[in-house]
Amino acid sequence: MPYVLGVDVGTTRTAAAVCRLGGTGRAEPEVVGLGGPGGGVASTLQLTPDGAFAVGEPGDPRWTATGFARRVGDAVPIVLGPDPLSPDFRDADAEQCMAEELTALMVMWVADQVAAREGERPAHVVLAHPPGWGAHAKGLMHRALRSVGVAASLVPEPVAAAENHAYSRSFAGSLGVFSLGSHGFGASVVGRGFELLKAVEGVDQAAGVDFDDAVFSHVRTSLGRELAELDADDPRTRGLFGRLRRDCEAAKRMLSGTVETSIPVHLPSGPVDVPITRAQFEDLIRPDVEQAVAVFDRVVSGGVEMTVLVGGSARIPLVAASVPGRVVLEAAPETSVVKGAALAARRLVVGPDAEPEPTETSVMVRDDDPSLRFPVGGLDAPDAEFTAPPPRPPVDITPLDLPERRTVKRVVRGLVPTGGRRARDSEDGR
Ligand SMILES: Nc1ncnc2c1ncn2[C@@H]1O[C@H](COP(=O)(O)OP(=O)(O)OP(=O)(O)O)[C@@H](O)[C@H]1O
Ligand SMILES: [Mg+2]
Repeated sequence: MPYVLGVDVGTTRTAAAVCRLGGTGRAEPEVVGLGGPGGGVASTLQLTPDGAFAVGEPGDPRWTATGFARRVGDAVPIVLGPDPLSPDFRDADAEQCMAEELTALMVMWVADQVAAREGERPAHVVLAHPPGWGAHAKGLMHRALRSVGVAASLVPEPVAAAENHAYSRSFAGSLGVFSLGSHGFGASVVGRGFELLKAVEGVDQAAGVDFDDAVFSHVRTSLGRELAELDADDPRTRGLFGRLRRDCEAAKRMLSGTVETSIPVHLPSGPVDVPITRAQFEDLIRPDVEQAVAVFDRVVSGGVEMTVLVGGSARIPLVAASVPGRVVLEAAPETSVVKGAALAARRLVVGPDAEPEPTETSVMVRDDDPSLRFPVGGLDAPDAEFTAPPPRPPVDITPLDLPERRTVKRVVRGLVPTGGRRARDSEDGR
């Protein structure tokens, strides 16, 4: 059955969702499993010796690109290659990639994976992007996507979040979007016509990885000298810390569902478990959460009908409890943007008229004002006043007709699996 594809290339996780075009009834966005954490795939591209990129696999950090999606528009390339401080380093051994090229390759990979599963290419692709992207970043992204053969439109992440929200619950005024992922914090206001009215992205604002650090610091404080005295140059110590960081992240996620857990630490003297309670974790991250909420408060200045929480870190109970006003949270808030991107793609293809009425599926986690219409947990009772959605003009989509750029082609050509570094090396006469 024909379908459209939404893609969200996050700093740590890339997610995909499809929306069917045929059939009867509502076309619900479906998150597509990509074989990695939380149904997505890690946003990493590792350049392998044969010149191909391996997607989502942990590998040699010198040859692995990470965090590129939020660097689109940055003129500084991401350099992959040997340690530039090593004495035998040669410039020619390193590979320079622009962030938009890497992001486009990620989208291409996702589109290929989904097409292989579906047996056909998507009718259209929509890529969600940080709200701060201006014409320059969007232009670069369009060209890079075109260079890898992907015809895609772009939609700001908060607009995608609003699209997803409107699928399950219509809104008559404007919508606040509080976004907290692994690295990015965003506070935005989206109008009822899906226009982005305001958007602020936190530059120094803490997010998921900083909360992992908070758990890590708790472990360090608890173990004291036992951890501090380990030989930092010993590869076993590096292995221990790498594993400990992953376990701290896992413990943080666990604390969203339980009130106490522990972090295993594999010390040379034997394994120990460091307990941590949700209350302790909340005390550690409270200043960061309060700062994010203060920024959000300033951006929305009380003028939104309700606020949707999106991004994996929105699962932290303290976050939902701290955002003021009426707050809506999906069971998997890290998928809200990608589902909205798929819905935006569908609307682009079928037009705004074919939209059915929303059904109530998202979770209203809190409602500060008892006189307001959605009671806490009031999911079963559809609200009569909200059943008629407002007219829906097309989302803010950047046009595709931009000229090609040579540098993108160069990098893309170098990335075909059979060409690779060796092929380029021989071209260069090395
Ligand atoms: N149950 C949970 N409790 C707390 N944090 C969680 C939970 N599940 C996932 N996270 C955190 O959410 C973050 C990932 O969220 P998400 O997938 O939205 O980020 P991203 O899109 O890759 O990054 P960004 O939007 O910042 O560029 C990680 O820091 C992860 O640890
Ligand atoms: Mg994200």
